[in-house]
Amino acid sequence: MLLIKQAPDIKSSEITDKKLFSERRRFLRTAAATGAGLASSALWLPASVQAGEKLSGVRKSTYKIDDKLTSYDYITSYNNFYEFGTDKSSPAKFAKKMKTRPWTVVVEGEVNKPGTYDIDDFIKPHALEERIYRLRCVEAWSMIVPWVGFPLADVIKRLEPNSRAKYVQFVTLYDPEQMPGQKRGLFGGGLDWPYREGLRIDEAMNPLTLFVVGLYGEVLPNQNGAPLRLVVPWKYGFKSIKSIVKMRFVEKQPATTWNMAGSSEYGFYSNVNPNVDHPRWSQKSERRIGEDSWFTPKRKTLMFNGYADQVAHLYTGMDLKKHF
Ligand code: MTE
Repeated sequence: MLLIKQAPDIKSSEITDKKLFSERRRFLRTAAATGAGLASSALWLPASVQAGEKLSGVRKSTYKIDDKLTSYDYITSYNNFYEFGTDKSSPAKFAKKMKTRPWTVVVEGEVNKPGTYDIDDFIKPHALEERIYRLRCVEAWSMIVPWVGFPLADVIKRLEPNSRAKYVQFVTLYDPEQMPGQKRGLFGGGLDWPYREGLRIDEAMNPLTLFVVGLYGEVLPNQNGAPLRLVVPWKYGFKSIKSIVKMRFVEKQPATTWNMAGSSEYGFYSNVNPNVDHPRWSQKSERRIGEDSWFTPKRKTLMFNGYADQVAHLYTGMDLKKHF
């Protein structure tokens, strides 16, 4: 993103890394399943809820798109999670040791039910569903991802924000010992930590907005934002904040990490919009990770990432060139 100087495409070296990573991962999963090699594989897995563990009771939802799914291996090895380094392959390497239990979510601000919620109590009231969404990064690549989660709107209704709550801010874990990118320096892109994001309340309440705990029917891997992340499919990927520890209901538009890092490049809204270029590259098209090569003609990017019917009304009367 801000500090990435090369063209926002996949390098062949990253593809090689991915293959190596997949083979290693396949080995570890097999070893864990068969009980062989447990001494080494256990070191790779979080304390109690393990990435890759099957989630029970997940129902398929009607939210899906017909494009071919991006493979599990690509989704879990080509990541942006600057807390673990700016390289696409770094989160898969360095996030494995992050502890996702015990974990709490603090709810504060303009809300009737503030508190510190244990993650499992926070998730428990909600039925899990699978939704197949397009993820479109501001770097002009996309994936098709079968997320598992529950609507953010249901959580918000449960927490009862008051009438002063016009926005909701989300905050990622701040723990430089576990997240080496948070130590000062360029390994984490020099961002102002902790990572923060925000939505207007009506965006947060839109039925598309999802709290995610899983992927491909399994517990979310750390590099994808375990134990709890947001997915806002009509916005650029950076709005989909990972490893959330705080929700704050506020009256004024909250600070967001990429907007603080470069307000001329990353707006608060960040709706996918082929008609508003990033100052340094076009947003008219994109490459599909895992399918499109350098030689494949790029795909056309769709307004609101293809979700215009569900969300265009949220922005009626707004100049989307100004509020990018
Ligand atoms: N959340 C945190 N905490 N830190 C990050 O660096 N990167 C964002 C978003 N959420 C990021 C984050 C960006 S730029 C993208 S494109 C998506 O996560 C990528 O999600 P994925 O790795 O699951 O594909």
